[in-house]
Amino acid sequence: MRDSLRQLLLSRWTKLVLFLLCLSPVGYVFWRAHQSNLTANPVEFVQHFTGDWTLRFLLITLSVTPLRKLLNLPDLIRFRRMCGLFAFFYVCLHLLTYLWPDQNFDFAGMWKDVSKRPFITVGFLGFILLIPLALTSTKGWIRRLGGKRWQALHRLIYLSAAAGVIHYIWLVKADLRSPLRYAFVLLVLLGYRIVASITSRTRAAAGVIPATKIEVSES
Ligand code: HEM
Repeated sequence: MRDSLRQLLLSRWTKLVLFLLCLSPVGYVFWRAHQSNLTANPVEFVQHFTGDWTLRFLLITLSVTPLRKLLNLPDLIRFRRMCGLFAFFYVCLHLLTYLWPDQNFDFAGMWKDVSKRPFITVGFLGFILLIPLALTSTKGWIRRLGGKRWQALHRLIYLSAAAGVIHYIWLVKADLRSPLRYAFVLLVLLGYRIVASITSRTRAAAGVIPATKIEVSES
């Protein structure tokens, strides 16, 4: 059972299926557009839809490490980079729906908005933080930076996800349930990392296990 699960995770087909699944929200929007069913306000619909998927992919990316440890499935690491890059892809679409139909590519107006409206400022910060992560996501960059520095840089994903959650909380006018659900998941994932890091340091100090191995590779 465990071996076949491992084989499934290592299969190229699984990666392809996952890739298509990650792309399916875009397909869904095109399908709704084709049916002329993008609600009375299509721009708002796409803006909210891509914002939601950005946040979901950030949280899915952050769930990979806890899941592989808790389920004892180290091969899940193969999918982390793809999920992270999809978070970046969706935030680019999200930004585009703001820049194009919303601001008409008026960059001066956009900067005014970024500096004036706190929820846009913090959303923009979340986007900026993801740029170095997307740029250094390749094996070449892991080699160039070294595992420790690469891992430290990629912790920025927590700040980006936190910025995304704050952005959502600040833009919602009445019903806070949805952003608070994301905030809760993020806190659980952060809490897991903090507890795991304290436990491994304590055990390493006691000589029970070697200090935490740095895991950045996909293979
Ligand atoms: C990590 C980065 C970001 C994340 C995770 C994110 C996430 C979200 C989410 C979840 C929503 C609400 C979706 C819903 O109501 O269902 C949203 C709305 C929105 N976001 Fe973002 N966002 C990010 C970056 C940005 C950036 C860079 C901009 C523009 C500069 C932006 C502009 C907006 C706007 C204008 C809305 C709609 C606000 C409204 O309808 O009142 N976001 N975003």
